[in-house]
Amino acid sequence: MGEPMTVGAKSANNSGGYKKIVYIICAVAALGGLLFGLDQGFIANSLATLDAHYHLGVQGGERYSAILATGGIIGALLSGIFARFLGRKKSLLLAGFIFTAGSALSAMLPPLTVLSACRFALGFAVGIASFIVPLYLAETAPASIRGSMGTLFQLMITIGIFLISLTNVFIARAFTRASTSLPLMFLTITLFAAIMFFGGFVLPESPRWLMLKRRKEQAIAVLQRTMNTQQEIDTEIGEIEQALHGPQGAGIGIVLRGYFFKVLVVGVVLQMFQQLVGINMMIYYSPTIFGYAGITGLLAAMTVPTVNMIFTFPAIPLVEKWGRKKLLYAGAVAMLITMVAAGVAFETIPANAGMISGTVKAVLLISSVVYIFGFAVSWGPVAWLVCSEIFPLEGREVGMTITTMVNWTFAGLVMGDALSFMKAHGNASIFFVFAGFCVLAIVFVAMFVPETKGITLEEMEFNLKNGVPMRRLGERPNAHTTPVPNKGGAAGE
Ligand code: BGC
Repeated sequence: MGEPMTVGAKSANNSGGYKKIVYIICAVAALGGLLFGLDQGFIANSLATLDAHYHLGVQGGERYSAILATGGIIGALLSGIFARFLGRKKSLLLAGFIFTAGSALSAMLPPLTVLSACRFALGFAVGIASFIVPLYLAETAPASIRGSMGTLFQLMITIGIFLISLTNVFIARAFTRASTSLPLMFLTITLFAAIMFFGGFVLPESPRWLMLKRRKEQAIAVLQRTMNTQQEIDTEIGEIEQALHGPQGAGIGIVLRGYFFKVLVVGVVLQMFQQLVGINMMIYYSPTIFGYAGITGLLAAMTVPTVNMIFTFPAIPLVEKWGRKKLLYAGAVAMLITMVAAGVAFETIPANAGMISGTVKAVLLISSVVYIFGFAVSWGPVAWLVCSEIFPLEGREVGMTITTMVNWTFAGLVMGDALSFMKAHGNASIFFVFAGFCVLAIVFVAMFVPETKGITLEEMEFNLKNGVPMRRLGERPNAHTTPVPNKGGAAGE
């Protein structure tokens, strides 16, 4: 930690197409997002196979699933240190290596303790990748495509979840013996991890990190590989130098400053609700939960990951068109209604679950589809986006590290307890709990979350430091009193 994450302004325009290395940079970085998704989506359609081989039971399955989040918390915590001392490229290679080794070792079906240690390691790599990939792209991809690369990362996560759900279903069907199918499931992850790891060697180091380490010549050499004209290179070097002379990242002590603490609380609670609306219960356990209601087969296995992936696409234009808050409201209302509907449907299922009516099954399926749609177009991307926008520059790294760790902490809580909660309090209970959190999330958005659409990051920072209430942080400061330099681009660009 301790250095600003963003690179000054965006001005180096693409003149005449991108060089091949730019596509390689984007592809390898996209693999980082894909691996996040592959590990996150692994459980849903492998849980039964894992159980058949390792006899995990409900709680053992939850523990194995949730240990990814523990790794994620620690990976996110340490990633700032890796980024600074190892450099961006070596940190990416480290994540690629851990992804490869962790999944390959799991494919050998080691004892459960080693398998769990591997899942912890995979989470650790996810934690590193989710910090380093956006940072590396922001610093290395040409300015004209940086914005779309940010959203690509989100999209790749959902594509990863979809892909591993699909391959695991087919592997489980083709090879009924767990000792054959389970290694193949892990080897699917290994394949993509190895491409990321070996592909990582051809990546250039981030020019901004090289400049930070006073290796200007090497930085220029990298820019000569990625940029088309000398003018673009000069502009970029000038901007990096300017950014390095500007305010540098504060240490953890910044959390004690009043203005920062306020915004941190908003980011933390937003990430907490992103998980407490229950998304990872659906991502991890929807086939199991559908099974409780007698819905099986491809429909149970693929509905959630497919809808989740498809509806992340419209979120990309909608965050700019509707704004962040409208999407958060709309998503939370959709999730609230569907969680209540699913809860009521489960209430009507008789205790012996012998005769489940077609109507109940239809209600469950439709509510799951609408629920995932609601999350994918709103809280999925928007919670991350708002957290990347609200922190003042000098505390952006600290703020994003803490809010990411909070996200993983609550993800772990949901992954680690959802099924046990259903067992202890009845299948319907958990849906009502998540519906309750949707209500609280709506109230929280109304009272404390600023609309960050169409305002520059600097204007928001000005508001923050001038005591404007959190909810109104995204309103344009009064033109007479606000000589705010416009150097960081509009929020969300
Ligand atoms: C969340 C993850 C979730 C994923 C589903 C992300 O925004 O942080 O916990 O699994 O969306 O697409």
